[in-house]
Amino acid sequence: MIKGYKKIIDETLVSYFDEILENKTHLYAKKTIEAMKYTTCLGGKRLRGILCLEACRLFSNDYFLAIPASCALEMLHAQSLIHDDLPSMDNDDLRRGKPSNHKVFGEAFAILAGDALISLGAQIIADKTSKTIPNERILKAIREYLIAAGIYGIVGGQTADLEAEKSTLNLRDNEDYLNYIQTYKTGALFEASVAAGAYIGGADNEKIRILKEFAKSFGIAFQMADDILDVISTSKEMGKTTGKDEYENKLTYVRKYGLEGAKQKLILQIQSAYDILKRENLESSVLNELIEQIKKSVF
Ligand code: IPE
Ligand code: IPE
Ligand code: MG
Ligand code: MG
Ligand code: MG
Repeated sequence: MIKGYKKIIDETLVSYFDEILENKTHLYAKKTIEAMKYTTCLGGKRLRGILCLEACRLFSNDYFLAIPASCALEMLHAQSLIHDDLPSMDNDDLRRGKPSNHKVFGEAFAILAGDALISLGAQIIADKTSKTIPNERILKAIREYLIAAGIYGIVGGQTADLEAEKSTLNLRDNEDYLNYIQTYKTGALFEASVAAGAYIGGADNEKIRILKEFAKSFGIAFQMADDILDVISTSKEMGKTTGKDEYENKLTYVRKYGLEGAKQKLILQIQSAYDILKRENLESSVLNELIEQIKKSVF
């Protein structure tokens, strides 16, 4: 199931970009379109897209309806990676096993590609979601997407992440602050992914609230694991430069609690994600498998 979801996301993304590249009107904008396609189509685990498809399937039995939204969420994710790697942010030269976007296309085009990915994703949900889905649901899915993209989501979390690096305020001692970073820079996009998929699949508000609670918990666990892997894994395995968080003075669970302390926190966080599924009788082998993958990546 996970492999099938990933394949369909990979293929559909390529087809969307090819469609744009074939449009001769925008020939003069080709460089930015290629930059957009480069990072988005380099692969990656496609976790956000998979969560979106699975959330849709849980309520409609037809995950196909959420394919445009799942690709849109992967575009937004790719944007967050492109901008995260910029010299003015994390200054990373390697992403998904290849040179980062700005290393290939230059900073200006990496910025433009990221900007254009945000709006293209929203446009794709609006244009390509099946007309059989009521407009109100499509609008709600787009709203979730836009929340995740901005100050109430990734931008908010990335702001706090960057401020913490150079903080002279006592923010770094504050558990709330660390929690804010993880919740927004990473959790928000996972929340939007399940919510968009579930809206398209026809879920009611209560089910969406529960799925978002799960996704937030999952997202925090995922970022904790990413922070731990930055210390214990290799650049080759991760496809991005490891060992950088300490160097950049990032505020992470590892920094705050030490490696073993962070691993203990991760175990608890993984358990809380499992507990939500159990408590709500959400039966999904895909969601269970995704949590298991986080665990296996570290332990
Ligand atoms: C990387 O996300 C950014 C974080 C939130 C840690 P992923 O590890 O999901 O990146 P890809 O999509 O697989 O490349
Ligand atoms: C990920 O945080 C947050 C976003 C990309 C929005 P990191 O900065 O830890 O992600 P990686 O390690 O560069 O993938
Ligand atoms: Mg970062
Ligand atoms: Mg980074
Ligand atoms: Mg990281």
